[in-house]
Amino acid sequence: MRKKVLLGTTLVVGLMIGVGASFGQVVFRHTITGEELQLAKALDESGETPAVKHFMRSGNNPYMGLPQCFPKGEELYLTACSACHGHYGEGKLGPGLNDSYWTYPKNVTDKGLFETIFGGARGQMGPQYGVLTVDEMLLLMAWIRHLYTGDAVDAEWLTEEQKASFTPFKIPKGGGGMPTAAAAPASDAACEISLP
Ligand code: HEC
Repeated sequence: MRKKVLLGTTLVVGLMIGVGASFGQVVFRHTITGEELQLAKALDESGETPAVKHFMRSGNNPYMGLPQCFPKGEELYLTACSACHGHYGEGKLGPGLNDSYWTYPKNVTDKGLFETIFGGARGQMGPQYGVLTVDEMLLLMAWIRHLYTGDAVDAEWLTEEQKASFTPFKIPKGGGGMPTAAAAPASDAACEISLP
């Protein structure tokens, strides 16, 4: 009897989560209001890449730590974010993104960081869903994580295995110049990933 009730509850909760998420199983929420993000507002291409599908299901960014995808992520970051957050995420008008301090602690997870980017935060940090596709957001998120200068211990977005081999980013002396990956051309083919 008790088992049945439990099973029933599990089913109802499961259904609620399922209905709540219009895109997949994970429910994404606005960083300030906590309201569910309207992922349907995303630019058209968003639902189509294997990486986006994987992320919507799991909340994990499959581009994370893939050097072959860095040039694209960097290009997007330099176009959409660096004017406010600095060339290397060191901070400018907007806060730094390359250290272990976060105004919104949830940004240590891929899901949280995505929510802040997609839906925006306060003031000048506007929502990016009209500017970038979800796939592009995932690519530049991987680049932002690459720019991290802090300790691997605080890098909650890394798996234990990734933490073991993580080297903090070093801002080139003199700053300002072109970051590392800029030397390699951003190629779509190089960064194609296939996921189950
Ligand atoms: C017009 C300037 C501007 C642009 C462009 C901009 N941001 Fe921001 N960003 C800000 C400001 C200002 C804040 C602080 C907002 C707040 O505290 O609510 C912020 C906050 C953030 C935060 C939260 C940081 C924390 O400490 O929790 C993240 C993450 C972030 N921005 C990522 C991005 C990314 C990625 C892009 C590019 C797609 C971007 N921003 C583009 C100005 C900008």
